[in-house]
Amino acid sequence: MGHSGDCFLVPGTVRMNQACLEAMAGPTITARGGEFREVMARLNSGLRYTFNLSPSSDLKKNQSWSGDDDYKVIVVSGSGTAAMEMVMANRFRRNDRVLVPTNGKFGERVAEMGSRFCIVKHLKYEWGRSFDLGEVEEQLARGNWEAVAICHNETSTGITQDAVEIAEMCKKYGVALIIDGITSVGGLPVYPEEWGAEAVVVGAQKCTAGPSGIAAIAVSSHFIDRCTAIRNQGDSNPTYYLDILAALKKGDDDQTPWTPAINLAMGWAVALETLKSEGLEQRWNRCLHMAKGVRTLFGDLGFELLADEYARSATVTAIMYPDGVDDSWRTLLREKYETQVIGAQDHLKGKMFRVGSMGETPLSEMVEGCKRMLECFRECGHDLPETDVESYFQ
Ligand SMILES: Cc1ncc(COP(=O)(O)O)c(C=O)c1O
Repeated sequence: MGHSGDCFLVPGTVRMNQACLEAMAGPTITARGGEFREVMARLNSGLRYTFNLSPSSDLKKNQSWSGDDDYKVIVVSGSGTAAMEMVMANRFRRNDRVLVPTNGKFGERVAEMGSRFCIVKHLKYEWGRSFDLGEVEEQLARGNWEAVAICHNETSTGITQDAVEIAEMCKKYGVALIIDGITSVGGLPVYPEEWGAEAVVVGAQKCTAGPSGIAAIAVSSHFIDRCTAIRNQGDSNPTYYLDILAALKKGDDDQTPWTPAINLAMGWAVALETLKSEGLEQRWNRCLHMAKGVRTLFGDLGFELLADEYARSATVTAIMYPDGVDDSWRTLLREKYETQVIGAQDHLKGKMFRVGSMGETPLSEMVEGCKRMLECFRECGHDLPETDVESYFQ
């Protein structure tokens, strides 16, 4: 079936479905009553599914945040960055050493943020290039590391890190693994337990098609033990709003320590139910299918893709502009072709655009969006042959 209307192919925020929007438009409820606890229980249970953890009850007073495995989920009022800060600030002491390999903007942010709370060694690789895992291992072998922290899916450059390999190294050298999974959880394979990750962060507005301004963390019992021990030793970084121990105290009761983002939680719970009805693996597959179509289509047409070929992301594709085209293409695309993608950041600004293949975006919207992108390139004077776009997405 074809797609009519605008195409919104941004790698987060993504469009929310009608049920999610309607859930957020419900009447105000209190933060402390049973009604909100019901919302939290549904949300916690949906999060455990999305994080690929063992199931939990979606009924209040039933430990919705925990399951048969070693993990708990914690909802954070704030965007993904708040959740990431909660992890870094609470888990490390000022003199803990944390290794942060990066190849894009968001990994660099993990390094920058981390350096406020611990000693970060930033292994900075070129944007879009895979980490030099040999160098990462060399560093780990020198010892004395508390953790490795990575941005799993680098939204700024369209590259997904080899988390399995990094997780193995972390196990081998006995260091914690911290994951910014903000654009991977719910959109591509993530296995917190198998990887032995101590903390994985997700933002609602990305692969789960929830509202912006709410996020969550999956944490292991070792993570909780370390945060508790550090606090008991009087060695912790200053936090108040993002104090994870305060959040943990309320978790058993399907509550949050401060007034939560109530309506966002209502919407996110519904978005996660939509994800569950699609199926987690089905969603991963749909995202990958769309990303593969985009990669191959633009690759065949001679566009250069930024990320290393074997590590391209299933949820975002970064495509270099051909010579003679700049970001005014995106303005025309939005205004005339009613299609939105996103530009690049920092030194790649104006040189590249990024196409999101996450959330609930249907295949038909991606196909139509790609047709419009090609047409818009033609209008900008970039000669392209007629192409059967549909055939790339079959
Ligand atoms: C991989 C990654 N990490 C972190 C962030 C920052 O998250 P937020 O804007 O939700 O704070 C983003 C946002 O695009 C992201 O894609």
